[in-house]
Amino acid sequence: MAKFLVQRSGPLKGEVTISGSKNAVLPIMAATLLTEEECIIKDVPALRDVDVMCELLGSLGAKVDKNLDENMVSIRADGEIRWEAPFDLVKMMRASILVLGALLLRTGRAVIHLPGGCAIGERPVELHLKGLRALGVRVDEEQLKKGIVDASAEKLTGSTVYLDFPSVGATEVIIMAASMAEGTTVLENAAQEPEIVDLASFLNKMGARIKGAGTGTIKIEGVEKLKGVSHHVIPDRIEAGTFMVSAAITKGRILIKNMVPNHLKAVIAKLKECGVEIEVTDEGVIVDGSKNPIVSTDIKTLPYPGFPTDMQSPFMALLSVAKGPSIVIETVFENRFMHVGEFNRMGANIKTEGKCAIIPGSKHLQGAQVVATDLRAGAAVVLTGLVADGTTEVSQIYHIDRGYEHFAEKLRALGANIMRIEE
Ligand code: UD1
Repeated sequence: MAKFLVQRSGPLKGEVTISGSKNAVLPIMAATLLTEEECIIKDVPALRDVDVMCELLGSLGAKVDKNLDENMVSIRADGEIRWEAPFDLVKMMRASILVLGALLLRTGRAVIHLPGGCAIGERPVELHLKGLRALGVRVDEEQLKKGIVDASAEKLTGSTVYLDFPSVGATEVIIMAASMAEGTTVLENAAQEPEIVDLASFLNKMGARIKGAGTGTIKIEGVEKLKGVSHHVIPDRIEAGTFMVSAAITKGRILIKNMVPNHLKAVIAKLKECGVEIEVTDEGVIVDGSKNPIVSTDIKTLPYPGFPTDMQSPFMALLSVAKGPSIVIETVFENRFMHVGEFNRMGANIKTEGKCAIIPGSKHLQGAQVVATDLRAGAAVVLTGLVADGTTEVSQIYHIDRGYEHFAEKLRALGANIMRIEE
């Protein structure tokens, strides 16, 4: 199993280019099942989750042509589409559930074993199913008790759906299912993430009629047919945020290219509160952590446009060394503090109580053997290793490979001392 060896590095300097968004490309790839025509997706990041989605679509019967050296995938789902997603793929990635709506439209049925992915909390799918039931889908309750989603529908009919929580995945599945349902669907308390907007713009290019993506109310007028299109995926805002923190924590100065500052308003505001200088230029965003001492701040994760839960652990790395104590409140997932144990191994002395973590700050961290407990937490412990004395050995980095394209190479180009070893 591969590991990263990370050593204390000086201030990171130079420029980095952000890759296409993992969380945008996965639902877009699932949406290609909605047409028999070819779809070409560009700026696709070379990630393990993308590989898994390619395999999943292939196993369902789509023809997938993957050229990740060129960051491109083309998908043509013109043959017979199977309705059952293989368990060994689904268990590797929670986002497999995203094929649910498209499968129902294409085959009238979808059978998916409840997925794995990051081990952060319960992560149920009852909101996805609530939306689908409203559109006329039947869900086998006995199978569901065994952890298998077995859903079927002869036809889907537009309806009004209220989401009790603005779940990203549920919003995406319902938009896809409603895109070719008969009549109009109104989705209330929808997730507003930029990835939802990217999915809607992809579907609209295909011929769908979706309005209001990016707001809490999305209206989808069903159409009979969708066509193949070509699409560039938006930049990954979480990768961009992680590199912003890498500049701050090492007191470096980096230029981040291909980042959309509007997608990171909460992260930018919080970094500024910590003393980081941020300038938006035509070339990209300059993040300068060298000008002021880094001071503490409190954060509370929320659905977009609030502070992203995926930035919680990278930001906690920064707060561990910031001057003064901070409080982090995690409201999106109920079990997303597993990285705290890893930070504490390095001397961060963080305490948790329910949804709250108290970070004393001002710590001089020591390198240690740590584990990437999930995808973002993996990136976070790497960042911590950049400012800790000695060597930090990060294991289980397959989590990082799921979501950060060429992470070590990009950090090394900025002056970070990080090495990958394959064991
Ligand atoms: C997506 C992102 C993930 C991010 C998360 C929250 C992808 C591929 N992944 O995950 O990186 O951390 O959004 O921004 O886009 N919930 C329910 N019932 C449901 C569905 C969700 O209670 O039916 C709860 C979950 O347990 C969780 C919260 O809602 O506590 C957020 O989940 P959701 O927004 O659905 O996240 P994902 O789409 O899985």
